[in-house]
Amino acid sequence: MEEKIQEKAVMSLPRIGEPAPEFKAVTTQGDINFPSDYKGSWVILFSHPADFTPVCTSEFMTFASMEKKFNEANCKLVGLSVDGLYSHIAWLRTIKEKIEYKGMKDVEVMFPLIEDITMEVANKYGMIQPGEASTKAVRAVFFIDPKGIIRTIIYYPLSLGRNFDELYRVLIGLKTADEFGVALPADWRPGDDVIVPTAGSCGTAKERMESKGEMHCYDWFFCTKKLDEDKVWKAVLKK
Ligand code: BEZ
Repeated sequence: MEEKIQEKAVMSLPRIGEPAPEFKAVTTQGDINFPSDYKGSWVILFSHPADFTPVCTSEFMTFASMEKKFNEANCKLVGLSVDGLYSHIAWLRTIKEKIEYKGMKDVEVMFPLIEDITMEVANKYGMIQPGEASTKAVRAVFFIDPKGIIRTIIYYPLSLGRNFDELYRVLIGLKTADEFGVALPADWRPGDDVIVPTAGSCGTAKERMESKGEMHCYDWFFCTKKLDEDKVWKAVLKK
């Protein structure tokens, strides 16, 4: 029987730049139609392996504590595991009522948590990676833009909790790159220099190398300029 279910499962591995696969689901906050319910805002769809497990609990407490920050950057959070709705509800209640961890307590998870007992959504999003586990989702993170396009995908294994400051940095970085038409160097944070897109012609390349203005060129293909931190926050927090 289990084999039959596996046979029927539509397994796919969505890619960056593609539309987020559509699905309808039951969540702890009611039914959702994804991604159409989220058009106009960024959304992070993430999976966790199982309710009532320690790494996942630490992650949910951290993500829920940071939700306001993500919302202020016009980004909504949606969780998923292959557990059922009543397990989700019981686990989130336990987190709120009983768990105190690293100064976080009384943490209420307000974002929707999808029940996916058939693994339909997890399979559609490549969250089931059998080399790691065939009955649980890995820790997948999909950043989806206001047009419903997947912009970044990050996977973590079962044994390693995510770095939520990094997830926030990715969101702010994606929005900054879009807003200012720039690229961002290694370890970029708001206030750091940004990369000016590569010159399209020799003339422009020469101009760039000779530029004494706002740009700093390390070579013809690698030019940066300052981007004021306040300008970044103003742009990324407005939408
Ligand atoms: C955890 O969240 O602690 C966990 C979940 C599944 C497998 C291993 C660890």
